[in-house]
Amino acid sequence: MRISVSACAGKEPCGQLGLAQMFAYNELVLTFKRESIMTDPRHIAPETQSGDSLDAALRIKRLQELVGQDKVRNNLQILLEASQQRGDSLDHILLYGPPGLGKTTIAHIVANEMDVNLKVTAGPAIERAGDLAAILTNLRQGDIFFIDEIHRLGRAVEEILYPAMEDFALDIIIGKGPSARNIRLKLPHFTVIGATTRLALLTSPLRARFGAVLRFDYYGIDAIEHIIKRAAHLLKVPYTPEGIHAIALRARGTPRVALRLFRRVRDYAQVRAEGEITADVAAAALALLEIDAQGLDSLDRLVLLSIIEKFAGGPVGLETIAASVSEESDTIMDVVEPYLLQLGFLERTPRGRMATLRAYAHLDISPPQQTTAGSGDQPSLFGA
Ligand SMILES: Nc1ncnc2c1ncn2[C@@H]1O[C@H](COP(=O)(O)OP(=O)(O)OP(=O)(O)O)[C@@H](O)[C@H]1O
Ligand SMILES: [Mg+2]
Repeated sequence: MRISVSACAGKEPCGQLGLAQMFAYNELVLTFKRESIMTDPRHIAPETQSGDSLDAALRIKRLQELVGQDKVRNNLQILLEASQQRGDSLDHILLYGPPGLGKTTIAHIVANEMDVNLKVTAGPAIERAGDLAAILTNLRQGDIFFIDEIHRLGRAVEEILYPAMEDFALDIIIGKGPSARNIRLKLPHFTVIGATTRLALLTSPLRARFGAVLRFDYYGIDAIEHIIKRAAHLLKVPYTPEGIHAIALRARGTPRVALRLFRRVRDYAQVRAEGEITADVAAAALALLEIDAQGLDSLDRLVLLSIIEKFAGGPVGLETIAASVSEESDTIMDVVEPYLLQLGFLERTPRGRMATLRAYAHLDISPPQQTTAGSGDQPSLFGA
């Protein structure tokens, strides 16, 4: 499908007029994958995804409701207030941190607080420069363009994004060979919110175009308890503080995990108990899910066991670990490893990953005799 030409909302003449002219010349080579953009689930706001209604009900809508992430909240409050006072559109914001800590949630909150439209997409979904051009020319003044997994944007797409973010302009080359012409279309002032779990994979020119770069940290136990209690109230699930505490302890400092465990415990309480989430009910439900007292699930333990049993405690490369447990290396790196590192169960060395003494103790495996201390104060095996 070709680009549909719609009226421009801003006062200035904007992209669509230029595009219309180019259509008349029949020179425009942008093919607009509107069908794929509209049907790809990554483009649909979470609220409208089927089976996601519970998530939507629990999603926080206002910055004030955000518990934890104090630095992110304070920085955002200032950004929002300043731009509202000036009547400007918001600066571009980059959010980074491990999965499930609230990056997408924040994008929705910002759109709510600013009372503007939110266009949601993801790096891998924008395959061609034309896809991005199509989205950009449909944005209106102040709109928020949320790009999840922004580190996975293609090179050609990024090249289009640079001037769009910096100068609010879209550079398009029309025609081929000696008759090729460069046309610059004006775009309305919009705001890009980029989210990534891998800041290091972002190219530095792209990173430099964000006015604010905000890092998400794991949540403290109190914040996680608060989040679970809020969900329990909203879903009218009876609980004891100890029951909530038992779930929070195993939630890996991550709201997504906390809410997932809460739902499973709620199911268990409903089917196998009186419906109330108590410490005993939570412990029994989480044991059934194979989640141990430290919050490790079966994959976490499998990774540790694999390093210890198959590779003599390491060092062993990420790809080898991934292959040995039949998982994607991205999953190991993004989901498993950060928590094991945080607990001090795993150590990253230039030669690969190593299990620490703490990991042996947790799995109740006696460590090999010849051990030396690793880096820092965390004891490790087979160090330098
Ligand atoms: N501070 C919070 N308070 C309450 N709920 C939260 C909070 N942060 C996140 N959540 C909930 O946790 C879940 C995951 O949040 P979200 O989708 O925003 O994470 P994310 O950082 O975008 O993850 P990913 O990197 O995987 O995309 C959602 O259901 C969201 O409602
Ligand atoms: Mg997200």
